[in-house]
Amino acid sequence: RTVYVNGEYLPEERATVSIFDRGFLFADAVYEVTSVLGGKLIDFDGHAARLDRSLGELGMSMPMEAEALRDVHHRLVAENGIEDGLIYLQVTRGAADRDFAFPEAGTAQTVVLFTQSKPGLADSPAAKMGLKVISIPDARWGRRDIKTVQLLYPSMGKMMAKAAGADDAWMVEDGHVTEGTSNNAYIVTGRKIVTRQLGQEILHGITRAAVLRMAREAQMEVEERSFTIEEAQAADEAFITSASSFVTPVVEIDGAKVGDGTPGKIAARLREIYLEESK
Ligand code: PDD
Repeated sequence: RTVYVNGEYLPEERATVSIFDRGFLFADAVYEVTSVLGGKLIDFDGHAARLDRSLGELGMSMPMEAEALRDVHHRLVAENGIEDGLIYLQVTRGAADRDFAFPEAGTAQTVVLFTQSKPGLADSPAAKMGLKVISIPDARWGRRDIKTVQLLYPSMGKMMAKAAGADDAWMVEDGHVTEGTSNNAYIVTGRKIVTRQLGQEILHGITRAAVLRMAREAQMEVEERSFTIEEAQAADEAFITSASSFVTPVVEIDGAKVGDGTPGKIAARLREIYLEESK
């Protein structure tokens, strides 16, 4: 596989990053994941805009113009022959002798991109079967609107879900669901789509923005507010959205079936609309 590191396209075996990189030592880095369907980038503009915002919130700036970044994405897709898959992008504050204070301005950022081929990404079994989720406390830091690489707790959450025989975990804070380990969470009650309002408590999903726009265009009712696990268990449907899962139904929460325990109609319809518009 060919990867991108700091301006160079290299075979992955030859791509290296310093042991002093602040992404490695302090998780001082942000990332984006963009999906590729039929060789086409999905929602690239949204991901580029969020990258700019995440960097800005941490006092960093874009390593290059969004258009140049798009070119890097396209070149990696072409060189690696990606039909369906993902592109991972990470920007760190760069390498400097270990110190909690940020290094002086002018320290070169580290920019890394690589592709992951996922044939059939859009027809995963989970879309037909639905996911089982468990609830866990949300023990992440308070700025989840910044897409940093501090992913240890979400990673542990995924392992807790696996250990419980489930697929993923929904995180709960002050009695209300924030989001999934790597996706936004939704319920459908009486035809109304409910998802948590934006704030620092959740990542502002690019798929979320697209799906809510499409839902409204299709005259579906949308309410942005927080909800509890009990409300979700009693809902007619539940689902998640993310760049890698698009819209995927949730059929069980903490062992309780959602609706009749099969994927819901509204989730299925939104998935269809989203994939159709992505073509
Ligand atoms: N995760 N919430 C969290 C905590 C996430 O990590 C993600 C994305 C989302 C959905 O955002 P978007 O629709 O922009 O993908 C919500 C990516 C896919 C990942 O970490 O692999």
